[in-house]
Amino acid sequence: MQELTTMEKIVALCKRRGFIYQGSEIYGGMAGMYDFGPYGVELLNNLKAAWWKEHVQIRENYFGLDSAMFKDPRVWEASGHTSGFSDPLSECKKCNTRIRVDKELENVGVVADEKMSEVELGALFTEHKAKIHCPKCGTNEFTPVRAFNLLVKTNMGDFTGENQVPVYLPGEACQGIYLNFKNVIDTTRAKVPFGIAQIGKAFRNEISPRNFLFRTRELEQADTQFFVRPHENKDAYERIKRERFQWYRNMGIREDNLRWKQHANLVFYASDAWDIEYNFPTLGFDELEGIHDRTDYDLTQHGKYSGVDLSYTDPHTGEKYVPWILETSVGLGRMFLAFLSDAYTEDKLGGETRTVLRLAPSLAPIKVAVFPLLKNKPELVSKAKEIYKTLQPIFMTEFDDNGNVGKRYRRQDEIGTPYCVTVDFESLEDGTVTIRDRDTGSQERVKIDKLTAVLLDKLKS
Ligand code: GAP
Repeated sequence: MQELTTMEKIVALCKRRGFIYQGSEIYGGMAGMYDFGPYGVELLNNLKAAWWKEHVQIRENYFGLDSAMFKDPRVWEASGHTSGFSDPLSECKKCNTRIRVDKELENVGVVADEKMSEVELGALFTEHKAKIHCPKCGTNEFTPVRAFNLLVKTNMGDFTGENQVPVYLPGEACQGIYLNFKNVIDTTRAKVPFGIAQIGKAFRNEISPRNFLFRTRELEQADTQFFVRPHENKDAYERIKRERFQWYRNMGIREDNLRWKQHANLVFYASDAWDIEYNFPTLGFDELEGIHDRTDYDLTQHGKYSGVDLSYTDPHTGEKYVPWILETSVGLGRMFLAFLSDAYTEDKLGGETRTVLRLAPSLAPIKVAVFPLLKNKPELVSKAKEIYKTLQPIFMTEFDDNGNVGKRYRRQDEIGTPYCVTVDFESLEDGTVTIRDRDTGSQERVKIDKLTAVLLDKLKS
């Protein structure tokens, strides 16, 4: 089994190579906010494309959607978020640092039931308070526990007068799917059972955002909601669980680093919930993706609050019912972190230690890098530029003539580029170039006029 790397090394690589930057960095940085840099956005887009292909493109009964982020504020009342979407908060009496009580209890081995009232949780906190210390100043004097709502509220329209409309940023991306359930049925050939897939942003006023991309205040979720006939949820639920686990395996995540966890305590909308956990560096196993049986909760609630009948009539039997919903939901930041950590390897090549990202070629930010052997030989540079221009419309390609070739290889290894093409003096004589393989370091010579076809073939496999 490959030794796990540390979060520190992943964070350093992300910064060094332009995958992730701290949000608002030049203003001192903002907690729980990250920007995806040039290589980060490529990896992120490749992950989204792979996920979309799996859940929309190759399916017959899944439909894509991209719903507006701002929604009628009643949506969040119907969904239960204005009343039930909160975390238990307490404040250090000395330095006012806020802590998330359930997480601090977990850290000292006490698991709080998600259904506990504020009073019950407060009593549990008091019982174990002696073991819990403020992460900033170390004292253990805290204010009473209170529920802290995670929805982010803002205003819309006339910002000065009393016509201001308070609206919420989405607490979870999936609500737009429920609002469009009827639209999708009316405008496509969708028949229950069917699914709707969406990638969308969500915002949560997390009390203590931490662990890099693992817990952030702004996140993106890739969701599928699968609508089934009531009580016909079990087989579909098992199929969906199997498929999601297998997808991570197919995309190259090592099996040792994945496992299942069933929720003992369920959130307010779920009747069964399983997490796919990933063995995150430094954190250990923790939630990567949630797979929830939401019953008829969502469509019933939105039917009630909107006054629109969201039941479904079976076109064959005429049977009318409110479908049950099976959900898969994964944060793309966590997915990004899992794929990056899984691919991160330190090995020895040609007697030198190197860092290499062994990403599946389809996920690699750059597919091909093109180098002239020497920067100060114009004939090599112009030939390499010519090849670069030919490959650019077909692959994400990078040109590099900085430093020596060895350094350029190291750089491409660290960003996970599967192939590097070098133009040398032989190229000028016989029209061939070398292709160097990221994982083995081995090189082969190929004719320039065959290069695109050879690379296409290699990247496909
Ligand atoms: N619609 C269901 C839902 O939102 P969730 O378990 O709260 O369920 C689903 O979130 C997924 O979103 C999680 O499994 C995780 O991958 C991601 N996620 C949730 N909160 C997050 C946060 N603060 N930062 C990063 N990712 C988060």
